[in-house]
Amino acid sequence: MSLLEIKKARLKLDNKNILNGVSLSVNAGEVHAIMGPNGSGKSTLSYMLSGREGYELESGEILLDGQSLSEMPADERARSGLFLAFQYPVELPGVGAMSFLREAVNSRRKFIGKEEFDHLAFVKEARKEASKMFVKDEMLKRAVNVGFSGGEKKKFEILQMAMLKPKVSILDETDSGLDVDALKIVSDGVNAQRSDDNAIVVITHYQRLLDYIVPDFVHILSDGVIIKSGGPELALEVEKNGYAGMINAA
Ligand SMILES: Nc1ncnc2c1ncn2[C@@H]1O[C@H](COP(=O)(O)OP(=O)(O)OP(=O)(O)O)[C@@H](O)[C@H]1O
Ligand SMILES: [Mg+2]
Repeated sequence: MSLLEIKKARLKLDNKNILNGVSLSVNAGEVHAIMGPNGSGKSTLSYMLSGREGYELESGEILLDGQSLSEMPADERARSGLFLAFQYPVELPGVGAMSFLREAVNSRRKFIGKEEFDHLAFVKEARKEASKMFVKDEMLKRAVNVGFSGGEKKKFEILQMAMLKPKVSILDETDSGLDVDALKIVSDGVNAQRSDDNAIVVITHYQRLLDYIVPDFVHILSDGVIIKSGGPELALEVEKNGYAGMINAA
């Protein structure tokens, strides 16, 4: 069953073609990796999926678990089970990390017909998940991402993922800026979420991440279009030979 279906997605920014007909089908239980040169449109794809203003499709279609996202505002996409971890997580001064998490998690739980957490139950749950990610309680008392180190921001993203239990997660360069231990912790956190009823898409430049989070499929995005798809061996090929050969062949 396809949880995320992107059909011939085209998108322009400032009158420049950025996505030029991206098609991708991600089934329940699968992990896909998207790789590709800088500027090929990977983050644009994730912004478009999130429903960010200014990233509306020019043509094409996106379906989350069979439901069209085109007309759905960003917050509703999140409630419906789409989770985006951005390459550059946004700082939210004045918004406490704990209350931000609680708001997001309860709104998702309400949507799927589960009872909302009360304050105590939530704090207990958050602390449990945070300790798995080696996120200190002290961090959850601070404003979202404000003054978090690069690695702390990435851990906080995966903590959100663990608590929201999304159907589809898109992780944009979640490995960037992580030290070797943090890379392992974050990868373990992502792997713990793998299940037969969700799907994960990781965007990365490095094969190294895919040693930890072993994907079922790897796609190469170049100039706003997927030029090649394959298994994990495709990432090894990129590591060894770069993109030029693939791009020329396409
Ligand atoms: N507002 C804009 N107007 C015009 N071009 C833009 C705008 N925003 C982004 N772009 C261009 O869109 C292209 C795709 O950018 P995007 O951030 O999606 O690339 P990426 O594949 O994520 O790259 P990286 O690997 O460096 O993160 C880039 O060439 C970028 O300069
Ligand atoms: Mg990017």
